[in-house]
Amino acid sequence: MIIGSILENQHAEKRIAITPEIVKKYTSLGFEINLVKNYGLHLGFSDKEYSDLGVKFKDEIEILKSANIIIQLGILSDEKISSINLNQVLIGVLNPYENKDKLKILVEKKINVFSLELLPRITRAQSMDILSSQANLAGYKAVIESFASFEKAIPMMMTAAGTIPAAKVLVVGAGVAGLQAVATAKRMGAIVFGTDVRMASKEQVESLGGKFLTVEGSENLETEGGYAKEASEDFKKRQEELLSETLKKIDIVICTALVPGKKAPLIIKDHMVSNMLPGSVIYDLAAVQGGNTAFTEADKIVEKNGVKIMGESNILNRLPVSASNLYAKNMFNFIENLYDKEKKEININLEDEIISKTLIK
Ligand code: NAI
Repeated sequence: MIIGSILENQHAEKRIAITPEIVKKYTSLGFEINLVKNYGLHLGFSDKEYSDLGVKFKDEIEILKSANIIIQLGILSDEKISSINLNQVLIGVLNPYENKDKLKILVEKKINVFSLELLPRITRAQSMDILSSQANLAGYKAVIESFASFEKAIPMMMTAAGTIPAAKVLVVGAGVAGLQAVATAKRMGAIVFGTDVRMASKEQVESLGGKFLTVEGSENLETEGGYAKEASEDFKKRQEELLSETLKKIDIVICTALVPGKKAPLIIKDHMVSNMLPGSVIYDLAAVQGGNTAFTEADKIVEKNGVKIMGESNILNRLPVSASNLYAKNMFNFIENLYDKEKKEININLEDEIISKTLIK
């Protein structure tokens, strides 16, 4: 059984799906690993390191044509997709909402395609949960990047020359990325506020030392799967009132609000940015889905009335080694669940919720 992976478009994606650390785990299950030359070089993983672990190097087309399982990050180009054949397996984070047409072609060719952002949020799937492992790092890094762009100190400092007040941070959307942002900002000495549409997140924000901002009179907007429902017009109005006042005193905002499969909710409007303190920073992780602010532009820093709005489309490219290590482990755990060790074959058992929910049909 061969597992193969080729390089991504490196301008957009620096992460890789197979790190040296994970090769041993695959080989202990009896898999052969095929990679293209210089696969991990940009992250400091040499071909020698891989070949010492038993990895074989082949050219891109050969891997796409012959590997039983192809593991990637994003969707491949049309040309590359055309090399994959019947009964091969392709696994990645393939963005099924955006890439419907490409995925349809693969399904019609009877290629078994799994997209790991569709994993159910159940206990058994936690070790495979790519969205959580990556969003956790994203939340941490968003705080580091925004603090680096803020031109004042973060913690309170009492000096002989006077006292510097602690910076105030607001985290909008307290899911995986948001909670890590709360924890990181708190550790660095900021005063941290968090807000969300799901009431379960109140306790979580508070347990990390943040203050939760509750939208008065709101109902709990949580689905059974633990994700957010789209907010009503009434909720949006109340949230706008609450945040308009709060933002006047906030130095740094980390935006992470998301409803799966939808455009990101517009939460910080034009007039709210105008009322913020000059020198404040907004770091918007939801930039790719349209952003949580009126001014977010992916991979740009927009300045409005002295407020910097930073939209990052792939913050994981700023810590690709840690992100790849976690991604590779998640992927291995998913494949281990898909593989029948006795029969030594892939077992697409549709009674397993993890398999049936991630398989593109
Ligand atoms: P998540 O689903 O765990 O968290 C999103 C949170 O937003 C949920 O708690 C949800 O209840 C909340 N939310 C939804 N609508 C809201 C509203 N109107 N007001 C307040 N809160 C609201 O998602 P996760 O994994 O934390 O990801 C968050 C965002 O970060 C997503 O947009 C994701 O795509 C993005 N992300 C971006 C990366 C980047 O490189 N730019 C990397 C990783 C994640």
